[in-house]
Amino acid sequence: MNSEVLRLENICKSFSGPGGVDVLKDINLTLHKGESISVQGKSGSGKSTLLYIASLIEKPTSGSVFYSGTDVTGFSDSRLSSLRRNKMGFVFQHSLLLEDFSALENTALPLMNRGVKKRSAFEKASMLLDHLGLGERLHHRPAELSGGERQRTAIARAVITSPDIIFADEPTGSLDEESASMIEDLLFSLVHDNGLSMILVTHNPQFAIKAEHHYMLTHKELMPYEE
Ligand SMILES: Nc1ncnc2c1ncn2[C@@H]1O[C@H](COP(=O)(O)OP(=O)(O)OP(=O)(O)O)[C@@H](O)[C@H]1O
Ligand SMILES: [Mg+2]
Repeated sequence: MNSEVLRLENICKSFSGPGGVDVLKDINLTLHKGESISVQGKSGSGKSTLLYIASLIEKPTSGSVFYSGTDVTGFSDSRLSSLRRNKMGFVFQHSLLLEDFSALENTALPLMNRGVKKRSAFEKASMLLDHLGLGERLHHRPAELSGGERQRTAIARAVITSPDIIFADEPTGSLDEESASMIEDLLFSLVHDNGLSMILVTHNPQFAIKAEHHYMLTHKELMPYEE
């Protein structure tokens, strides 16, 4: 059995405010190295909330998040951001690329933030972007890229540091069917080839079944399901 990367134990999440909203109830989930899971569910069912808790962006109301076997729920904000920076990659529906930087610079930055020299960061970024079909777009800024090209850049940026785990929230939600399908395949092959783990949130059943394990978030609970 591969080692455990992430474990959610009895996670509950409620938002205070008018009426209060209970979003997640007693969620348990274990993700091993190299494993990918998908989470589907209706709009408002709590998929993004679950992803933010698993990726340590939000705190659960109760329950614990274990990272590589360590309970990190009570870690300080700076320790949590360091974990996020060093161990995790993120791809969202409208991934925010830095507008003043080229595709190449956007992709190389996470490496340079970790102390990799500019020259080798750029070399690695350019090889990866080339692999993703963006070899001719290295020096384009986000405004000069199509939606699909921006998402491919965002994926390159997320995987370039070989993180332990990729969190993807509707990464192809803003794309047409054909580019979505191509980017889905790219994402899965990168994750697979590099032995990364991934939690993928999607509305699209065809995308969801490309993951090894499939879950549905329904009535605040996470239920495994077969196709
Ligand atoms: N900061 C917040 N304060 C109060 N309620 C919130 C907050 N964030 C989310 N919610 C509520 O929690 C519920 C779940 O939201 P979430 O964004 O996780 O849904 P989702 O499954 O990702 O939906 P979608 O598919 O539309 O992205 C929603 O009813 C939402 O209104
Ligand atoms: Mg969402």
